Amino acid sequence: MMTGDHEPGWIRVWDPLVRLFHWSLVLSFAVAWLSANSWEDVHMWTGFAAGGLVLLRVVWGFIGTPYARFSRFVHPPQRVIAYLQAVATGSEARHLGHNPAGGAMIVALILATGMTAFTGWLLTTDAFWGVTWMQHVHNWTAHGTILLVGLHVAGVALASYRHNENLVVAMIVGTKRPIRADDIE
Ligand code: HEM
Ligand code: HEM
Repeated sequence: MMTGDHEPGWIRVWDPLVRLFHWSLVLSFAVAWLSANSWEDVHMWTGFAAGGLVLLRVVWGFIGTPYARFSRFVHPPQRVIAYLQAVATGSEARHLGHNPAGGAMIVALILATGMTAFTGWLLTTDAFWGVTWMQHVHNWTAHGTILLVGLHVAGVALASYRHNENLVVAMIVGTKRPIRADDIE
């Protein structure tokens, strides 16, 4: 349902910058990916856009609204592993913000997208123009990012199913249903 924003008691979780960042990143990354072999100008500009968005998100991760902060959703590996073990047994708690595995994935996505844009930019500099190994690194980081995106979307689908809520809609409208007894705020 798209009515989340009007539901009484629903909690504002994702601020406008996070939501705009996310869907702009999806768009710019998708166009950069699709234009990689065909349309160099579009490829470079959408790739730069993805890189710029990631940089902006890193800053927002330190100064942004509470749920957007890294300190809120980046956890030590033991906590991520414990969460994944709970997922395996179907006993993981619902999280109002990003869950621990989601948080780890966000760090991975930001690094992978950032590395892809950075190595793409390097290919346009005098030092790396036409340098084969850097072309390979750029290609690998791009493919690695796509792999992570696949896992990311699968994780979103699984968490949505398990907790009976549409996380994609939440990333559009920004609100989520209030916490219940076993949820983690
Ligand atoms: C159509 C494909 C995609 C869908 C449906 C999707 C959906 C989502 C959802 C629902 C969340 C919030 C997860 C939660 O509730 O904890 C999220 C977060 C995130 N996604 Fe995606 N995503 C997609 C593609 C991508 C791509 C292509 C990237 C990067 C290249 C990406 C990077 C991120 C990041 C960095 C966050 C964290 C948001 C923040 O806190 O700022 N996503 N995504
Ligand atoms: C994060 C977004 C980006 C993605 C997903 C991406 C993806 C790719 C992929 C998959 C290729 C390999 C094409 C092939 O060899 O078959 C490629 C090539 C290339 N990309 Fe990107 N790229 C991104 C950002 C950038 C940026 C920001 C720039 C420069 C400003 C750039 C410049 C290039 C160049 C010059 C090539 C051709 C390299 C060659 O001749 O093999 N890319 N990109």
